[in-house]
Parts: sequence; structure tokens; C-alpha cells
Amino acid sequence: MQTLENSPEHTLEQILPAAQAAFSACSTINDLEQAKARFLGKSGVLTEQLKGLGKLSAEARPAAGAAINVVKQGVEEALKQRRDAILQAEQEKQLASESLDVTLPARARGEGGLHPVTLTLQRIEQLFHSIGFEVAEGPEIETDFYNFTALNIPDDHPARAMHDTFYIDEQHVLRTHTSPVQVHYMQEALKNNSGPPLKIIAPGRVYRVDSDATHSPMFHQVEGLWVDENISFANLKGVVQDFLQRFFERDDLQVRFRPSFFPFTEPSAEMDMSWNGGWLEIGGCGMVHPEVFGHVGIDSEKYRGFAFGLGVERLAMLRYGVNDLRLFFNNDLRFLKQFN
Ligand code: PHE
Repeated sequence: MQTLENSPEHTLEQILPAAQAAFSACSTINDLEQAKARFLGKSGVLTEQLKGLGKLSAEARPAAGAAINVVKQGVEEALKQRRDAILQAEQEKQLASESLDVTLPARARGEGGLHPVTLTLQRIEQLFHSIGFEVAEGPEIETDFYNFTALNIPDDHPARAMHDTFYIDEQHVLRTHTSPVQVHYMQEALKNNSGPPLKIIAPGRVYRVDSDATHSPMFHQVEGLWVDENISFANLKGVVQDFLQRFFERDDLQVRFRPSFFPFTEPSAEMDMSWNGGWLEIGGCGMVHPEVFGHVGIDSEKYRGFAFGLGVERLAMLRYGVNDLRLFFNNDLRFLKQFN
């Protein structure tokens, strides 16, 4: 331990510069604690100075004490400054060692988006949901019964031909339309005593042996079915027209029915909508055929229903101004990115 006699800090005036120099020489908190002890500790030089006060006369004591206190405050201040500096240097050193170069360019994050057909299906579901239609689903691999027989499609109907339909085996086909969901849904509803009334749309994939600019072997339809006691063709027209006007955001959009034939509706019609001064075919429809009601066990004397089938890609092409249906399925990102 240094004493006042042999230390270079033995006069009061020398203490502060000596402490500043000693503290500056420290580069760690540990070193600094030891240097602190030499100046401010129990037997540090300042404490020795204070002890020395006792030897002075009562008159000299206050001034001498005040002078020592000034020096003590200076030493404490120097200590604090050095401690802060060391802590900051240590922190900087640590940060540098854990450094993370935030200026590096980020790795590109591939942001996904919804497919235009999905966006169209969502819009269709939302619009029909708003007028009380539930969304129903059915299998894409159907039995001959659901895809054809229950829908009153005769054995010699062209849709049953191998060259028009994807057969899995003798009894199973990739469904050629969403109409079989009508049959599933009506059967289930009767079984569960949950209707009629029945009010559903059934969106989904369908398959046909067909491929050109307006046909794809896989495409989407949305089936509509409303069965109740007093359903008429007028309800069908109202629902479809309201839907199309809202879908295309055009209050002046008109719907036209052309007499047609489907085995599972009677009467049947093709639906057209007004578009750029002309008419565009957008699907088939009609009143549910009593044969179909018979297959599922609904009393056709009591209940009536309408059904329709719309082409989803068709609606998407018109809404987005796409001129080739195949663009939807080529998965070219330059095309797909335009919808998100
Ligand atoms: N299922 C028919 C088709 O795919 C469309 C349709 C649905 C017609 C419902 C009438 C009633 O062509």
C-alpha cells in the first residue's frame, strides 16, 4: 500500500492529476476498481488526507476539509467518466463481435398470391352467400350413377361416350359437370331431415376430353340449386341476373334464356348475358326434372327447383379480359402476378 510519504500523490494538489492519470491507464473495470481503491478506498490517499485533518487546529480544519472534498469530488467524477468510457468501449467491442451486416441485400422472398380462378371462385361464393346460398362440395371421381343415371342421362347420351369423358374404370368417371352434387346434396338433406328448402351452390373442378383456346380438359363450374315449394323460372332469372350484375358491377347487365335441352331439367335453357352490344353464353339451366327428384326421393308434386351451371373460367376471362383460357393453367408467373 502506498503511503502519503512515498507516494507521488502526497500533496493534495497532486492527487487529482494523479488519479486522472491512473484511471486513464485502466482499460478494464477490474483495473479501475483497483485504482479506485488507491484513491477512495479505506486506506486510499484521500482517506488518509481526511484522517490528517484531526492533526490540524480547529480553525484550519474547515478550509482544509473543504479543499479535500473538492479534490474528492474531482476524483469521483474522473472515476465515473472513465467507468462510462470503459463500459461503452466494452459494449462496442461486443456489438462488433456479434455484428450483423444489415446493409446486405435481403434474400428475395417469393410472395405468393391467389390464382385468378380462386379469386373468381371466392367472389362467386361471397355473392351467392350474401343471398342465402350454402356452399356444397362433391367428389371429383364420380360413379356412373351420380354423374349420369341419377341425372336422367340416357345410356346413348354423347356425354357418356369414351371420347368425351375420362373413365377411371367401368363404373367411375372424372365428373363431367357439377350437377352430381345436386344429387348428393338432396340425398343427404333428406337423410338428415334438413330440407327442402335447399339453397346451394356447388363450385368445383370438372373434366372433359376437350382442349383449345376456350376449352381445357379440366375446368371449373359452379352449380346452383334452389328447391322449395314455390320456386319458378322467374326466381332463377332473378337470382342469376342479380348475381351477374353484382359480379361484373354492371346494373344494366341483362340475362336472356334460349330454350335448350338437358336431361336433368325441364324446361331447360341456355343462359346468355348482354356483353358489348351482343350476347354471350355463360351456362345452362332449367327446372329440376321430376326424374331427378324421383331418384333422390323428393316429392315432385310438392316441390319444385331450379338448377344452373356456370363456367367459372368463362366468368374470369370476361371479368379480367383474358382471351385464352389456357393462360390460367400454364402457370406463367408473368400472367399470374397481374392478379395480385
Ligand atoms: N350440367 C350442365 C353442363 O355441364 C349445366 C346445367 C346445370 C344445366 C344445371 C342445367 C342445370 O353442361
